[in-house]
This record gives sequence, structure tokens and C-alpha cells, in this order.
Amino acid sequence: MAKKQLRIGLIGYGFMGRAHSNAFAQVGHFFPSEHEIVLQAVCGRDAAAAQAFADKWGYKSIETDWKKLIAREDIDVIDIATPNNLHAEQAIAAAKAGKMILCEKPLALNGKEAEKMVAAIKKAGVANMVWYNYRRCPAVTLAKELIDSGKLGKVFHYRANFLQDWTISPELPQGGTGLWRLDAKVSGSGVTGDLLAHCIDTALWLNGGIKNVSAMTETFIKERKHTLTGKVEKVSIDDACAFLCRFNNGSLGLFESTRYARGHKALYTFEINGEHMSLKWDLHDLHRLQIFDHADEGRERGWKSVHVSDGDHPYCGKWWVPGLQLGYEHSFVHAVVEFIKGLETGVGAKPDFKDGLATDYVVDAVLASGKTGKWVKVKQAK
Ligand SMILES: NC(=O)c1ccc[n+]([C@@H]2O[C@H](COP(=O)([O-])OP(=O)(O)OC[C@H]3O[C@@H](n4cnc5c(N)ncnc54)[C@H](O)[C@@H]3O)[C@@H](O)[C@H]2O)c1
Repeated sequence: MAKKQLRIGLIGYGFMGRAHSNAFAQVGHFFPSEHEIVLQAVCGRDAAAAQAFADKWGYKSIETDWKKLIAREDIDVIDIATPNNLHAEQAIAAAKAGKMILCEKPLALNGKEAEKMVAAIKKAGVANMVWYNYRRCPAVTLAKELIDSGKLGKVFHYRANFLQDWTISPELPQGGTGLWRLDAKVSGSGVTGDLLAHCIDTALWLNGGIKNVSAMTETFIKERKHTLTGKVEKVSIDDACAFLCRFNNGSLGLFESTRYARGHKALYTFEINGEHMSLKWDLHDLHRLQIFDHADEGRERGWKSVHVSDGDHPYCGKWWVPGLQLGYEHSFVHAVVEFIKGLETGVGAKPDFKDGLATDYVVDAVLASGKTGKWVKVKQAK
């Protein structure tokens, strides 16, 4: 039987453009389905660079204006891999054109913008997914399965960190290519929307909704030269953020993120402590899940490090043989697997735009609390 084509129109060919293109290229080799991914077009503002990307990754054509890409009839899925300030406009236009949408995280600059995106996909009735890829690391999915099985019992604590060190130099400029993350007009916020958004999405998935938050934020370097204007300008992002929260299930949460933790490049860790079992995960060792099971015989009880690579571990049976570990890029392949599965079951893929909105609401509350120093209630996505 002929496969149903999913003709992709990718916007943005930076870091995530490459991660997505790699996933699109791999998925059919390892996870056969009724669908076939076709790399139809890539869009970027620089025609020569877009063409070079198309040649390298196998896209059939290019566009230099994303509106033209969205208007094309030979595109089924718009994949948004652009800076955060473009997500809303591009996704709403894609929904109006009846396209399916894959959108990078954070869904939008803030909850208000994300609400408009959710309304647009609801009205259009189009399939949608947000690329919170860490859900799709097999060890993280295994954690979800253990939590859902009830093995942890009542959950008391959830804590997560996302630590980096790349903005410590005051000489680093802000804004423009590669550095738009330091300009809140483009990024929405600093580490809260960029890094903590990942931690928040995983936490909402594993441990349910967050009721309220109390945060502190800091901007260590107050002024930087702006790449686009050439002038020294006020820094508008949060360089670091720590927050406490209460989850709806009664557990307590503790989150921290910074780009000033010398020595850490991308240390995303989370730990969840239940009545019977605790779980720990670390992005630097992403193929392992640490498990402490209080039901183990007393003298042998202790933390065990499970190498998540066996045939019955999530996604792993489709890859190599047990013992051969998977890495960062596979999380994106698995996200595409989920998107296709969502189409084929008719249930839709997770995390969807509504889940992206839920994370944006938490980000909004954290930033508001960071400003006032007061506890802030988190708006719940309906
Ligand atoms: N899921 C993850 O783990 C993860 C990791 C990194 C980035 N992200 C997210 O992915 C998105 C992109 O981040 P990145 O690191 O790939 O950024 P990047 O700067 O590497 O790439 C952005 C791309 O968008 C293009 N672009 C900018 N304006 C455009 C326009 N008007 N029309 C067409 N193309 C345009 C740029 O030319 C570039 O190719 C962001 O939302 C970011 O938060 C997610």
C-alpha cells in the first residue's frame, strides 16, 4: 500500500533545523509506519544558505519568505525552528492555511501569545506538537511509565536543574544571529523560558500541574553591546532563576537554572522522591535512569543505575541491540514517532500546543514572582 506523504516545510535552518532534519531523515528507517516523510522545502532569509542547507539535508526546494512557504499547496506540515518571537505569527498563519504544525519550544513569548496559538489550532482542527524532546529520551519515558504504574506511591518532592556557563564573559554581545537568546524582545525571557521551560514541561508531564510559585531571578551582567545596533544596551533577560513551587498533587518542587555555573555546559537533571521509590535522571548520562526501590531486600537496598537500552525499554527495541546506548538526536526521532503515531491513532501527539501553553503559564508566573518576590498563582490551561 502506498504510504501517506507528510511533506515538510521547515522554517529556520540553525541548531534545531538540523536536529529536526536529522530526525526526519532517520525516522522511517527505524520506525516504519503508514506515513512517509518528504523533505519538501526549507525556508531561510538567505537564499544561498538555504540552498546549501537543502543540498546537504535533501530538501527538494527552498523559500526565502516563510509566508510563501505556508501558502504552498505541496506542504502538509510546517515545522517552526525559528527564534521564539516568530513562533506565534508563523503558527497562526500555518493553522489558518490548514497545515499541521510542529513548533519549537517555548511555544511563545508568553502565555497570552500562546493562548492565541491554541485558539488558532483549535479553530483550524490541525495536528500539532511542541518539540519538548526530553520527554522522548528513553530513560525519561521509562520514568514516566514507572510513575504512571503507581510504583512511587505518594510523591513528596520534585527537583530539577538546568545549568550552563556560556554567558559569563561581559564581552559577549547580545542580540542577532546566535545571540538572540540574550535579547528578551526575541526570546521572551532568559534561562526561565529557554532552559527551565524544558524542566517545567518534563515536571508537568511526570508530576502533574503546578499550583503556585515563588521565584528569584538575577541579571548578573546589566549591560552588553547589542549586535544589531552596535550600542551598549540594558540586558533584558534573566541570567539565573531559582523557584519553589507546590504541585497540585501536594508535592513540593525546587527548580534552578543559570548560564553562570562555571563548568556546566548543559546539565539538566531531575529527581522525584515518592513514598516507595525515587528516580533520578541526568542529561550528561541520558541513557541511564537511577532508581531507588524501597521494596528491595533491606541489605541489598540502594540506588541502581539502569542502562536504558534493552529491547523492552521505550523506543529501544527499534534501534540496535541491547546494551548499545542512544543519545540526544534520538529524542527528536522519537518525537517524530509520537507525531506520526498521533496521526495514525487519531488521538494526537503530546506535548501539544495546550501543553506548551501550560508551560508558558508557569514561566509567566515564575517571571512575575521574580519581579515582586511574592508567591504567584499559576494560571491553569483549560
Ligand atoms: N528542543 C530543544 O532542545 C531546543 C534546543 C535549542 C533551541 N530550541 C528552540 O528552537 C528554536 C530555534 O533555536 P535554534 O537554537 O535553532 O536557533 P538558531 O539561531 O540556531 O536558528 C534559528 C533559525 O531561524 C532562522 N530565522 C530567523 N528569522 C527568520 C525569518 N524571519 N524567516 C526564516 N527564518 C528565520 C535563522 O536564520 C536560523 O536559521 C527556538 O525557539 C529555541 O528556543 C529548542
